Amino acid sequence: MKFFLLPLLFAAMTLTACEDNDNNSNATQTNPHNNNGTSEQTSVPAQQNTEHNQNDEVTMLAKIDDIAINVQWEDNEAVNALKNLVKTSTITVQMSQYGDFEQVGPLGQSLPHQDEQITTKLGDIVLYAGNQISIFFAPNTYRYTRLGKITDKTDEELKALLDKDNVTLTLSKDAIHTQTDPTATQKKPLVAYFSVTHHTQAIAEHISNHTGATLYEIVPDTPYTDEDINYGDKNSRTSIEQNDPNARPAIAFDMDNIEQYDPIYLGYPIWWAEAPKIMYTFLENASIKEGTTIVPFCTSGSSGIGSSAILLQQAAPNANWLEGQRFAIGASSSTVANWVDSLNL
Ligand SMILES: Cc1cc2nc3c(=O)[nH]c(=O)nc-3n(C[C@H](O)[C@H](O)[C@H](O)COP(=O)(O)O)c2cc1C
Repeated sequence: MKFFLLPLLFAAMTLTACEDNDNNSNATQTNPHNNNGTSEQTSVPAQQNTEHNQNDEVTMLAKIDDIAINVQWEDNEAVNALKNLVKTSTITVQMSQYGDFEQVGPLGQSLPHQDEQITTKLGDIVLYAGNQISIFFAPNTYRYTRLGKITDKTDEELKALLDKDNVTLTLSKDAIHTQTDPTATQKKPLVAYFSVTHHTQAIAEHISNHTGATLYEIVPDTPYTDEDINYGDKNSRTSIEQNDPNARPAIAFDMDNIEQYDPIYLGYPIWWAEAPKIMYTFLENASIKEGTTIVPFCTSGSSGIGSSAILLQQAAPNANWLEGQRFAIGASSSTVANWVDSLNL
């Protein structure tokens, strides 16, 4: 394929963001603190959660100090028990730093737990010893029960938030979003993508086939010709657009009722390590509802997703952006399906 004619150019580009997902090379096996946490332990048995299956209807809000954090909660007994607790009262956990990798504090209750040996990533929230909550700003390997992970903070933001002596974690029920009506509106997934040579389109179709998501192609008003996408020509249309911070190529057809969709899988090709400018046109004009989850994905010859997705966030700052994923050209449907499943959306 022709982009391999410029291997040195693309090899020099960042290959970090998605590959970082599994970068635990600094992880250490550390035996955590022996803080019993609280003098009076009560226990929340698993059975409490089976009396009715309505915990999915509780949206549990989390704050570290006064900062709201977006958490993707696990679907397990420990989280169900936590949701039961926040139904009746707000939980406050006074945390302190331990071992240069976590904030940890007593819950004051024991929750059902199935500890397993895991290596944590930045932003992971776990239950330690059944009765303490830990939030990580560096990796550690030990036996924990996963509770969730923070999805809306960069590594730097997590360190700024957590690498201090003490923090307070607050968990509360979201009164507005708690659904008691079983007929409440179902969320619909959308795959919105831009693709010139159809590689990103193929991934978009895999996602749609796997999730049943509606497909929406971001079609440029003026289609890109072969000359336009000639990255060897510094006067080609793509060269000029990508070098112009204000370029916003027009889109042929708007997406109707986009506010009804959540999550939005957002796909694009990497152009010189960035997202094509038409992605900014789309995000700036679409009426995406506040808090909508956006999951970026891209295809490229060799570059990683790099900072392309982080830069796109400026165009829809009120959305809940998840970490992006780069796919190789021709990635299989099972590779894509495994990634979608790992998101637990
Ligand atoms: C203008 C242009 C710039 C590109 N820049 C990069 C790049 O920086 N890194 C890379 O690995 N691939 C680059 N590519 C290759 C595309 O990212 C890759 O072919 C992608 O899969 C195309 O997606 P599409 O078929 O959906 O349009 C570039 C391609 C074009 C046309």
